[in-house]
Order: sequence, then C-alpha cells, then structure tokens
Amino acid sequence: MNFGRIRGVNKPVSRILLGTAVKPMIMGQDADEMLDTALACGINAFDSARNYGGAEASLGRWLTKRGVRKDVVILSKCGHPDGNGSRVNERAIRDDLSRSLEELQTDDIDIYLLHRDDERVPVGEIVELFNQLKREGKIGAFGGSNWTHERIAAANDYAREHGLTPFAVSSPNFSLAYQQCDPWGGGCVTITGAENAAARAWYKETQLPLVAYSSLARGFFSGKFRSDERKKAREVLDAVALKAYDCEENFARLHRAEQLAAKKGCTVSEIAMRWIFSQGLNVFAAVSASTRERMQSCISALTLPMTEEEANTLETGEKGI
Ligand SMILES: NC(=O)c1ccc[n+]([C@@H]2O[C@H](COP(=O)([O-])OP(=O)(O)OC[C@H]3O[C@@H](n4cnc5c(N)ncnc54)[C@H](OP(=O)(O)O)[C@@H]3O)[C@@H](O)[C@H]2O)c1
Repeated sequence: MNFGRIRGVNKPVSRILLGTAVKPMIMGQDADEMLDTALACGINAFDSARNYGGAEASLGRWLTKRGVRKDVVILSKCGHPDGNGSRVNERAIRDDLSRSLEELQTDDIDIYLLHRDDERVPVGEIVELFNQLKREGKIGAFGGSNWTHERIAAANDYAREHGLTPFAVSSPNFSLAYQQCDPWGGGCVTITGAENAAARAWYKETQLPLVAYSSLARGFFSGKFRSDERKKAREVLDAVALKAYDCEENFARLHRAEQLAAKKGCTVSEIAMRWIFSQGLNVFAAVSASTRERMQSCISALTLPMTEEEANTLETGEKGI
C-alpha cells in the first residue's frame, strides 16, 4: 500500500480509501468482515458521511469492537442538504458533527469535509468555523467535497491573510470516465472532461490532497460488462451511474482500457484506477470494493507500470495503444 500525508492528520493516509456508502453499511448493518479485510490489506482510511444513513454507526461499532480507532483515518462529511436546502451554516454543521462523533464512537474526526458548498456563504465564515472546531479538538484536517477549486483557493487566501489553518483536502468526482452531468441533482463537482482542465491544472500546481470519489466511475470500470455490451451495462449499473456515465465517449474509453488491460495482463479496473494516479495530482481514491480480491486489485493498481502516452491514449484516444 502507498500512503500519503495530509496536513492536520497525525498518521499516514492510505492512497486507497474504502468508501462506506455501500448497502450493508448505509442500512446500518455490521460490515465487520469487510472492514477487517480492508485494514488487513493496508487500507487504513475510510470515507464516510453523516448523510450515508447508518454507515457511520456501522463503522463506529466496528472501531470500538476491534479497538482500532488509533490505527484508522476517518474521513466524514457534514452539511449535506438532504433535500432541505442549504445546510452550510454553523448550526447544521455542529449538529452533524456531534451526531457523527456519537455514531462513530470517537472524540475526533481525522478529516472533516463539507459535503456540499453554498456559494452565498462567504468563505471566511466557513474557514473561521472549521478553525474553531479544530481548536476544540473535534477535527483534524478539513476541507470541501464538491467544492470548486476557485472557492477552495478563495478559502485558503482568507486563511493565509488571517493566520488561520487552510483547507487541507478536496474531494471532487474524478475517474477515467467523463462525468457528463451531475447525477445527484445539483451541487456536485467533477474535475473530469476538457471543460475542467483548469481545475486539474490547479490541483497539479498546488498539490492539494485530493480524494477522488467514485474513482471507478461507480462500477463503469468494474469489468462487470464489456464495451460492446451496452445492454448489459444498463442492467448492471444503477440509475446514478447510468445518468453520469452512459455515453459513447465512456464506452470508447472502456474499449481502450480493455485493450491496454489485455496487453498488460491485468483488469480494466486496475487500468482505470492506475490512470487517476498518472495525472500528476496528489490523489487518493475512495472506492467501494466489497471483497478482498477487489481491494487487493485496487491496491496493486497503484504500482502498475503505465506510460504517459498510455495514460493519454486512454483518455483521448490519440495514438493507438
Ligand atoms: N463526496 C461525495 O459526494 C461522494 C459521492 C459519491 C461517492 N462518494 C464516496 O466514494 C465511494 C466510492 O464511490 P462509488 O461507490 O460511487 O463508486 P466506485 O467506488 O467508483 O465503484 C464501485 C463499484 O466498483 C466495483 N469495484 C470496486 N473495486 C473493484 C475492483 N478492484 N475490480 C472490479 N470492480 C471493482 C464495485 O463492485 P462490488 O460492489 O461488487 O465490490 C462497485 O460495483 C463511496 O463509497 C463514497 O464513500 C462520495
């Protein structure tokens, strides 16, 4: 396993984070075997959110049962609108945080992110609040999920001008697939596609740690269907994945991933996972992988050889593989 450092987190963070927005956990059911397996494989970081139903409670029970809190990096998120309009305000964030701490059975959360932004709220208010929560010892690193790079830059300018701790993490959507629309009904941010080249350039320049969510495009690159099986893809993928990724462009990318996987003797998901680490960004990948085999395959992808030309061809189709 490769690890990275995130300012404000007192231990190394595995480059693969296990996503907890998965059926047994969001239903509040125990997922001890899956979580044990992840930790045994070297995955020490878990991506959760107040908005993921029973996921925090499921994770919290496991942390306590196993006594592994000190070995684990918890990422959680707050302020999701949940159909109730903007919740980017102190009251909602504090409510979410105290509930998350209770469910996770912990005194602090290592990485705490706003799940959405509300651009009507001045960044200064948010930076001040998160600095206060940090002073209270309730959170370590903090940042935004589904925040544009411009808002993060503005938040960090404010922090610098006021001698405060800046955002240390961003978590947008990022994968080899082009996300053709926001599948969640507004408020989400992807850095895929030509129109987001400036965002990727900013992350490359700043090296701000970035936790890519839906890093296998919600199963588009799972290998559960082939690029010539579009009908099967519609049976396998859920409505969110179809809305986001079901387009010619992505089936062409999948086809190129299949060709490269055949050449290298690996799986398409390993090619897709490796690709996000080939872009010069300081990236971590949140992935929902339910078995030991899949977790290990995501980990082994980190060290898969991939040339710049191969990575470029996967995305653009320029120069045959
Ligand atoms: N911040 C946000 O707004 C936000 C939004 C969405 C997601 N997330 C986070 O990101 C996490 C992951 O995103 P996601 O669940 O949307 O999609 P994902 O991780 O991109 O895709 C999950 C799919 O990939 C399959 N898979 C995983 N590893 C594999 C491997 N090595 N080989 C083959 N198939 C593999 C899984 O199969 P199996 O299920 O069969 O194992 C599942 O079908 C979530 O759990 C959540 O924590 C955050």
